[in-house]
Amino acid sequence: MDISMINFKMLGDERGHLISIESNESIPFDIKRVYYIYETKAGVERGFHAHKALNQVAIALSGSCEMEFDDGTETKAIQLNSREEGVYIRPGLWRVMRNFSEDCVLAVFVDAHYDEDDYIRDYDDFKAWVSAK
Ligand code: TYD
Repeated sequence: MDISMINFKMLGDERGHLISIESNESIPFDIKRVYYIYETKAGVERGFHAHKALNQVAIALSGSCEMEFDDGTETKAIQLNSREEGVYIRPGLWRVMRNFSEDCVLAVFVDAHYDEDDYIRDYDDFKAWVSAK
């Protein structure tokens, strides 16, 4: 499964902490867009799609949530609960996000502008897309 965690360098001193994120450095692509998910209601699950080409890095800037990935063969779940690490989500992975804590702010850095044509939103279509690759 093509999932990897990225540890960000924390610049901390007696005043507190600071993390800097730069394109093609800690994040392995040109960042074109950032979105964030917050105040997610209890019990909500979101995602349920894959991307054909989009690269993403997701970071829980506050609180925690679970992300489950499916490459068409196997699934893997990870817990995002640190602002010092992100998960690098390459294209071609079905994802579901769940168990958002009330204070969860999930920020996602991506390498392209929003494009609905890059989404696969039907699981059977996803399986067919994986088989055809
Ligand atoms: P949606 O794909 O349902 O989010 P999730 O993957 O978390 O379940 O996105 C919600 C709405 O926001 C949907 O109408 C598409 C829109 N949207 C944008 O306009 N720009 C964006 O960058 C994103 C991620 C979503």
